[in-house]
Amino acid sequence: MKKILITGGAGFIGSAVCRYFLANTDYQVINLDALTYAADLKALSDFEKSPHYSFVKADIRNAEQLAAAFNEYKPSGVMHLAAESHVDRSIDGPSDFIQTNIVGTFNILQEARKYYESLEGAAKNAFRFHHISTDEVYGSLGAEGFFREDTPYAPNSPYSASKASSDHLVRAWLHTFGLPTVISNCSNNYGPFQFPEKLIPLMILNCLEGRPLPVYGDGLNVRDWLYVDDHAEALALVFEKGVIGEKYNIGGHNEVKNIEVVKTICAILDELQPRSDGSSYESLITYVADRPGHDVRYAIDASKIERELKWKPRETFETGLKRTIQWYLDNKQWWQDRKQIATQRLGLK
Ligand SMILES: NC(=O)c1ccc[n+]([C@@H]2O[C@H](COP(=O)([O-])OP(=O)(O)OC[C@H]3O[C@@H](n4cnc5c(N)ncnc54)[C@H](O)[C@@H]3O)[C@@H](O)[C@H]2O)c1
Repeated sequence: MKKILITGGAGFIGSAVCRYFLANTDYQVINLDALTYAADLKALSDFEKSPHYSFVKADIRNAEQLAAAFNEYKPSGVMHLAAESHVDRSIDGPSDFIQTNIVGTFNILQEARKYYESLEGAAKNAFRFHHISTDEVYGSLGAEGFFREDTPYAPNSPYSASKASSDHLVRAWLHTFGLPTVISNCSNNYGPFQFPEKLIPLMILNCLEGRPLPVYGDGLNVRDWLYVDDHAEALALVFEKGVIGEKYNIGGHNEVKNIEVVKTICAILDELQPRSDGSSYESLITYVADRPGHDVRYAIDASKIERELKWKPRETFETGLKRTIQWYLDNKQWWQDRKQIATQRLGLK
């Protein structure tokens, strides 16, 4: 049986990837995760008893734990998603980002390389290491243009710099050591189970609890949004069919200004859960001091993955956002348990 080792599989995107493989393929899925504040094994509760699923609590900062996982499970491939992922936290305290995103990626590359070199024949030919990264490595765009796979790297935040570093390490392990790697860089994701420190779930929760909706700066920064299950499907395609040594940009053609994201959430909630006094949730919008070094615009040119791997997103921003908001309305207990940690950081304290 084919076995895939997924790091960060208890996180927002990693759990969607685990669910995708468990629901749609006959892969054995090994989820390796340190279970930081951002992790949630409940996102995999439908599969916890599946004979196709195993969980390993391990930290990518610890090479011995990684070596033990490779020896025990002998995966036929790796998808590497484990990371510190929140830009604001990287501004407050970059150290964990350096340790996990850079040193942790170095560790897993080294262990994957040792393991790969021990393989022979068909197992060696089939092995691949898929590194999951972000469009933020490319820096910030002006009003025009798109990030392409050959756009030069220009990361601006500690988070994006740590991810850019990890991408460079992956490239070097391919070119220097022959580890068969492929990299994908994706735009902003949203959907169920996203930790409520990120823009979309934070705004939904604040609306539902009548708290201010903190919008950075003038709210005109543009992000390109992708529904998480569309990303998971794209990642599975890159893992299975992507060409070794190539990069693939993944995006949803959904460029939206932050303020429009917030206003759209308000409009959907006005319809799904009107406020008792009849006012719109928009009245909760509060502009706050801008994030330092805030990138102005991200936009992905996803034509390569669309053309070569025949991928295209299923959700539009409107359909995906409605699904997401409905999920948060239906899963109040889930976010109640997390909002304490989430609201410690962003916007208004
Ligand atoms: N969220 C986005 O919009 C987005 C967009 C593009 C790319 N990405 C990338 O996708 C990946 C997943 O992002 P996410 O939003 O699901 O992140 P997340 O923060 O929701 O989840 C990260 C997961 O990694 C685990 N983890 C963190 N440090 C670890 C360590 N030292 N050892 C083992 N596990 C550890 C956490 O426990 C958590 O389960 C990241 O690499 C991120 O850079 C995210």
